[in-house]
Amino acid sequence: NGSSETEQGTDGQATEQADEEKKVLQVGTDAAFAPFEFMETGEIVGFDVDLLAAVMEEAGYDYELKNLGWDPMLESVRSGSVDLGISGITINDDRKETYDFSVPYFQSTHMIVFNEGVGITNANDLEGKRIGVQTGTTGADAAEKIVGQNNKNISKYETTALAFMALQNGDVEAVVTDNVVAAEYKKNNPDAKVETVTDEDNFESEFYGIMFPKDSEIVDEISSALATVIENGTYTEIYQEWFGE
Ligand code: ARG
Repeated sequence: NGSSETEQGTDGQATEQADEEKKVLQVGTDAAFAPFEFMETGEIVGFDVDLLAAVMEEAGYDYELKNLGWDPMLESVRSGSVDLGISGITINDDRKETYDFSVPYFQSTHMIVFNEGVGITNANDLEGKRIGVQTGTTGADAAEKIVGQNNKNISKYETTALAFMALQNGDVEAVVTDNVVAAEYKKNNPDAKVETVTDEDNFESEFYGIMFPKDSEIVDEISSALATVIENGTYTEIYQEWFGE
C-alpha cells in the first residue's frame, strides 16, 4: 500500500559509537519493489532495508526510514526534506545533474515480464504491445527507447506493484522493470502465468546507488560506510540472505 506512510528506524537504540550530536537521518523509499523494499506485516523490509541498516551502523547514525512513494521520495531528496533515498535507484547522468550518489552497490538491467502467449522474444517485440511501467523509472525510459516517447501503448503506474497488477488483470500485456524485481514477481506468483525475457542488445546495464540532495554534507561519510560494508563481508551476508540459494 504505497499511500500509507510508515516509519521505522533505530529510535531508542543508539549504538555505542553514535555521536550524541549526530542528527537522526531521514531516509525515503518506495516500498513496492520486492525484493529491494516492500511492505510485510506493516514493516518495510528488503535487501535495501538491511543494507541501509548495516551502512547506518557503520557510519554511526540513527535514522528513520519512510515509505514515501517513488515520485515524492525523489522530490523529498531533491528538496532536502529527507537526507537520503534508498530504493533500487539507478545512478545515471540525468539524475546526477540533480542529485549526488554513493558508490554503486548493485548491478541491474531491465527485463520484460509478459503474460503467457503474448509472444515476446526480445525488446523489439514490445512494439505494438500494451506496456506497463512505473512512472519516472529507468524501466519507463527503456520501454520508450523501443516504442517511442509518449507512445499510447505505454501505461505509467505510480508503483511497480501496480504495473504488475495491470499485467495480471490484462490491462497491459507486458511490464518493463528491473531484472531482479521481474524475476521475484515471477517466482512469487506462479499462478500468474507470466514469462520473462531480457535483452542485452537493447537494455543497458545499470547500477543502484544511495541518493542524496546535491552537495549534501553526508555523501562521503555514508558512501565510504557503504564501501566498507561491501568490502568487509557484511554486504555478502545480506546478499546471501536475499539472493542465496
Ligand atoms: N532502478 C529503477 C530506477 O532507478 C527503478 C527503481 C524503482 N524503485 C522503487 N523502489 N520503486 O529508475
